[in-house]
Amino acid sequence: MTIVSKPARILGIETSCDETAAAVVENGSALLASVVASQLDTHGKYGGVVPELASREHLRAIVPVVREAMERAGCGYQDLAAVAATSGPGLVGSLLVGLTFAKSLCFAWKLPLIGVNHIEGHIYAALLEARQRGEPVGFPALALVVSGGHTHLFEALEGLRYRLLGKTRDDAAGEAFDKVGKLLGLGYPGGPVIDELAPYGNPRAVKFTMAKMKGNALDFSFSGLKTAVLRWFESRDMTAEVEARKRMLAGTSRPAVEDWLAVTPRATLDVIASFQRTVIEELLRRAAACAEQIQARALIVSGGVACNTGLRAAAATAELPCPVFFPDPGLSTDNAAMIAAAGFARWERGERADLGLKAQANLALA
Ligand code: KG4
Ligand code: ZN
Repeated sequence: MTIVSKPARILGIETSCDETAAAVVENGSALLASVVASQLDTHGKYGGVVPELASREHLRAIVPVVREAMERAGCGYQDLAAVAATSGPGLVGSLLVGLTFAKSLCFAWKLPLIGVNHIEGHIYAALLEARQRGEPVGFPALALVVSGGHTHLFEALEGLRYRLLGKTRDDAAGEAFDKVGKLLGLGYPGGPVIDELAPYGNPRAVKFTMAKMKGNALDFSFSGLKTAVLRWFESRDMTAEVEARKRMLAGTSRPAVEDWLAVTPRATLDVIASFQRTVIEELLRRAAACAEQIQARALIVSGGVACNTGLRAAAATAELPCPVFFPDPGLSTDNAAMIAAAGFARWERGERADLGLKAQANLALA
């Protein structure tokens, strides 16, 4: 007699920053449903995430988002093996909403709770997709996690073990995109707009010199680049064009590329393209050196900045010592499928969190 084991479905919940997300993943490799409620419209007008507003929005969204994910997956609580929730790092008020809701579901449904590190989640976004395609990722893998809060290089070893090899000493890459976007009147978040406009400028027009780093050669620094863009900006009178972009943004929350181009002169497009090229070169140069150093069998690039089309194109043609994996854009930014996938790996190893698990704003992966 063969015993057919029930597929293990994990409900993932993610609320670490400004996205309320829930997803159901089966056996760590099949995405059954993923729902993300973005708070961009709430925070956009303030030019960044307002923590108090984020917690309030999570409270509003968490019940409908989880219900929708379960419905789309065609799943009842009896079909779940566990609930996985992000326990850190992130905004503590935001984390608390998702984690507390996950704990109450576990208590009511008598299911185990799995705590997941958000950064590990970003790494699992790539592993989930690769498994879905039947293309397993080799270990050790080098994971470049590039988002609004992180620019970190980790060696990912089999058995959920990680080693931190390099990180930003100041701004995260996404933060640099957002600050430059704000300076140039491109709204918040700046990353997607800079990405859209960069192909219209000359990426070699402005030479930004990056500071030489003392100490760990695999560390990043983006604040000097941001200051260089600020100096370039201050040396010109750009008030009128920035005001024109802000006026346009006030009228349409999602301007089309033609709308941006109509209020963005060539010189500004050149600085946008040059800034993006510099960030991409910095990221790929260190990732390639690091992959070589640890003899990585795969490079995983994940986090919001991994959506950048220039970065994806450059990685496809760069001389990298191993294959590179980018998750689909929808799985690169914050989502709960990645939390459910990482949660499955921990569940499979028998890990269970107790209901006293705390939200930790600075939770480290390694
Ligand atoms: O992973 P994520 O959704 O949230 C964090 O954990 O931070 O990343 C958001 C960040 C923002 O800084 C945003 O500007 C950046 O990712 N981002 C991009 C692009 N899409 C999002 N940066 C560059 N190019 C993009 N296409
Ligand atoms: Zn993230």
